[in-house]
Amino acid sequence: MSGSSASRKQAEALKLDDKICPHCGRELQAEWVEFPPALQKKYDKPGEWYYHPCTPECEKKNDQREWELSRREARVTTLRERSGLSKRMKGYALDNFDHYVSPATTRARIKVDEYLKNWEENREAGRGLYFCGGVGTGKTHLAVAVMNEIMARKRVPSLFVTVPEFLDNLREAYMIPGRDLDEWMDTVKNADLLVLDDLGSERPTEWVRERLFVIVNHRYREALPTLFTSNIGPKDLASQLGERTASRIIAMCDWISLEGEDYREAIVREGR
Ligand SMILES: Nc1ncnc2c1ncn2[C@@H]1O[C@H](COP(=O)(O)OP(=O)(O)OP(=O)(O)O)[C@@H](O)[C@H]1O
Ligand SMILES: [Mg+2]
Ligand SMILES: [Zn+2]
Repeated sequence: MSGSSASRKQAEALKLDDKICPHCGRELQAEWVEFPPALQKKYDKPGEWYYHPCTPECEKKNDQREWELSRREARVTTLRERSGLSKRMKGYALDNFDHYVSPATTRARIKVDEYLKNWEENREAGRGLYFCGGVGTGKTHLAVAVMNEIMARKRVPSLFVTVPEFLDNLREAYMIPGRDLDEWMDTVKNADLLVLDDLGSERPTEWVRERLFVIVNHRYREALPTLFTSNIGPKDLASQLGERTASRIIAMCDWISLEGEDYREAIVREGR
């Protein structure tokens, strides 16, 4: 355990930060443990700091904390698996969204940060976001980044649904007798956080409008937050989806406009 003064000095330099007990905040007693020569070679260092445990009560709490953290981690993994996100979308984050692309992306990023900062309040009020803009402007990326953030940090069970695909599946399933569609609709209607991607890219038949109204109206009444992405701006929403649905969406959401060029095209053009 005791080493030469030279290796002590080296050890001093290696001690980067003081370990503190996560429970009581007291600094832990550290002791430098020098490795025998064989281990020094194996680990490529002269030794390491050993931190004496805190009081037995603290140790118990700390073990529990560790257990809770790993359980939370497992919960987030499960949440992600059930989220409906594709592999690519699981990687959409705020970190990999370049907000310097245009003034619109910069503004969007600020609004998104604000939304996340006030998440508890927004959740309580059932407030969501409506990302609108042209093709490839980052609507889905940003909406999914918000969802990923809320799933990971707030452990909120979230669901991603591509509207045209969902409606197609629903329509098909109607033809199969005995299928219980209510359960399907209920999952979407009641998700704690829901992303409705590509709203209105679909020919708005009466049936489509009716389904969407049922979902939006339920979420409005129950104050459940929804993130929308759409090519449709606020002015055309009513003519596309009907007055009743449009007015509820407008009441529930902050608008984020992402007008700009197609990021997919820009990447190809610039050979990025
Ligand atoms: N500002 C950005 N920074 C980094 N990646 C971006 C940005 N904007 C878009 N992308 C990337 O470009 C691709 C297209 O973006 P996205 O799918 O979010 O566009 P969209 O607005 O939803 O388009 P569409 O209307 O076709 O659904 C994605 O791979 C996305 O990750
Ligand atoms: Mg999209
Ligand atoms: Zn302690």
